[in-house]
Order: sequence, then structure tokens, then C-alpha cells
Amino acid sequence: MKVLSNMEKRPRSSVEPAKVGAASFVIEEDILRHNLSVLKYVKEQTGCKMFQALKTWSTWPLFKITREYLDGTEVSSLNEARLGYDEFNHDVHMYAPAYSEAEFPKILNYCSTVIFNSFAQWEKFKPRVDARVSRTGKKIECGLRINPEYAGKDEHGGLWTPCAPGSRLGIRIDEFKAALAKNPRALDGIGGLHFHIFFDKTFEDLRDALGVIEERFGEYFSRMQWINFGGGQKITDDDYDVEGLIQLVNAFQKRHGVTVHMEPGAAIVKNAGVLVANVLDIVERDDVGFKIAILDMSFNAHMPDFLLSPELDMPVAGAEIVRDAAELKKHAHVYRLTGGTCVSGDQLGHYHAFQEPLKPGDKVIMEDAIQYNLVQCTMFNGVQHPAILLWKNGQLEGVREYTYQDYRARMG
Ligand SMILES: Cc1ncc(COP(=O)(O)O)c(C=O)c1O
Repeated sequence: MKVLSNMEKRPRSSVEPAKVGAASFVIEEDILRHNLSVLKYVKEQTGCKMFQALKTWSTWPLFKITREYLDGTEVSSLNEARLGYDEFNHDVHMYAPAYSEAEFPKILNYCSTVIFNSFAQWEKFKPRVDARVSRTGKKIECGLRINPEYAGKDEHGGLWTPCAPGSRLGIRIDEFKAALAKNPRALDGIGGLHFHIFFDKTFEDLRDALGVIEERFGEYFSRMQWINFGGGQKITDDDYDVEGLIQLVNAFQKRHGVTVHMEPGAAIVKNAGVLVANVLDIVERDDVGFKIAILDMSFNAHMPDFLLSPELDMPVAGAEIVRDAAELKKHAHVYRLTGGTCVSGDQLGHYHAFQEPLKPGDKVIMEDAIQYNLVQCTMFNGVQHPAILLWKNGQLEGVREYTYQDYRARMG
């Protein structure tokens, strides 16, 4: 068995910021390929299947790279399903909390697997799936999402904790048993079960969660062909126990006679791209212990998760993160990074201490900038959408530039 060696740690960012003009997302091909190689290695050692979660990152011109390593896409809307089908390949696995009558027939055009959030949705749409299969001969797998009521450690107030109390996501064990008691054939036509319970968690978190999941739902697994472990695992981080994951997946598959599916999102683009921004102005206020840097980007428009969850850290090249206001005076050049919209709260919730004072024209390099940011960018305030660039062999390649026409087209 090939063991990932220290030589294969994730490469450091090598983008030369001076080569970047206005604020731009710069995806680094060598780091992207490194992350994908780790995922492919897990696939090779286990025979599991991996689908790219499009909700995390969907820069489709680069699917030609991700397609070399992964099996297909995981999608959660009709638009994502079509993008996966048209631009990646035809192995499109869809889950959504609920499907609409109007969209469902179109979803069946694009998806190879449809996962339902409840027995009610499954019963409602099963006849449509059966009719489509018998009319066209197309193979469409169906699955159910389970909710093992295992939240683990929740650092984000339930925002990204799918099994927190009150969550609408997935079928709980009591509901599962009740549905089968009412209709013993309720699982007829179901090929797999799906769970997605985490965000940014370790192998040990998965191992512990799996113990609980098997205890609650294990008796149904051997009736399935596949079990989908969802996303939320930081598999490509250097300190992730990849060999532990391989052993766990192999043992699980053997125990239950199933194929494991995984839907990595963040692990694909983790640290594989930066946002290079420019300092437009510096504002000094004598009532606070920091200076304010106004950048040619917007946290509201380009990094909304950092406003929703101010506890998230944004690593910046050459700067130390300062969270505690009492610590501010220990640093000579401490800044709050703010965006260029007129929203007063268009800023990060923490501070950055730099070695040298910032001045207009300086570059600020926000690291690990791709996951969940590019997909959520808006043109709020008419603010310029950062370009998407690819950093490859020491050169920049344009992937997408945004113009006034893009802004105008969204507004009417
Ligand atoms: C159903 C499902 N699968 C996969 C993912 C991808 O998760 P991550 O980007 O944390 O790996 C998500 C993220 O929310 C999800 O909801």
C-alpha cells in the first residue's frame, strides 16, 4: 500500500501578487492537483466513489482538471445538476431538501442519482422516476438522506451543523422505523442511504460519528448498494489521517457489502487559491486601537460567510490574526480589513497585524479564498466582481472577467 509521504504535503502558495491587477481570485493549479491526488489516492485504495460538491466551488472551466481525478458531481439544485451534466460528466448525484413538481422532470434529465429528504418526498416522486426509467431505459438510482441526530462539536451555532436539534435535513431513526412499520415495502427502489453531518472535521470526528450512525441505522445498510458519507471532511489537510480513512472505508464496505460514496467540496479547493486585493485607502480613527484598510473588494459581496460567521478566520499572507481587542496594543501595525461598499459592516470580524504599515496600492493576499466564496459572490452595490485567474507554471491565465454587462444583465 502506498503511504502518502512528507514529500507530498500540500504545496505553499506561489502566486506572485505583483502580477495581479485589480482584486482577483487566483486558483493555483498545482495545489488543486495536490488536493485532488489525495482524494484519488483514497479512491484507489478503497474503490469508493467521489463526487465534486458543486455548492462549494463550481468554476466549470476547471472541471477539465477535477474530472481527471473524481467520478462525477454532487448537486443540490436544477442549475447545478445541469452544470454538472453539461460540463463535468453524466454521473450527477442530487440531493435537495425538497423537490418541486415543476422542476422534478428536468432534474431527471440530468441526474443519475436522486436522494430524497423524507419518505413523503420519495413516495410522491417514485412514480415519476419509475415512469421515466421504463420510458427511456435510463438508469436512475434513488436514495434517502438520514439524520443520525449526531451533531458532534458545533463551532458555528448550528449554521453548518446539519443534525443539530430542529434541523429539517434527513430522516431520523424514529421516523425511519415508523415509515417502515406503516409500509414494509417503503425501501423498495431505494439503492442507498446518504448522510452529511459535518463541516471541516477530522478523521477522528468521522470515526466517532460513524459509530453512532451504525448503531442507529446499521441494520438497513446491508439492504443498500451504496452509503454516501457526504462532505465536511478535511481529507486533504496535511494532518488528516488519510490511512485511517482508507482502513475505515474498506472495513465499512466489507462489513455491509456496500460501496462508499463521498462528496468532498472544501477539501478539493482548500488553500488552492487566494484573493489578491489592493489597498485603496487607510482610515485612522483615534477612538479605536487599529487602523482601517479599505480594499477593492467587498466582504458582503465576495465573502458573505465571514459576515454570517464572524468566528471564521481569514488567513492573510504575512499577517497575524488578532481577535482579542485587548491584544491590539501589542502590535504596531494592526488593521481591520474592510470592503469597498457603503455598508458599515462590510468588514472582517477580526484584525490583522502586519510587519510594516499598509499604504494605498499595497496588495493584501487572503489565503484559502476559494471555498464557498466564489459560488456566493454577488454584484451587490454594483461592486466589481473579482476576476477569476489560474496560476499555472508561474504564469497567470484568465478564466473569467466580469464587466458592466454582467452587472446590468442581473438587474433586469
Ligand atoms: C449534502 C452535501 N454534500 C456535500 C457538501 C460539501 O461539504 P464540504 O464542502 O464541507 O466538503 C455539502 C455542504 O454543505 C452538503 O450539504
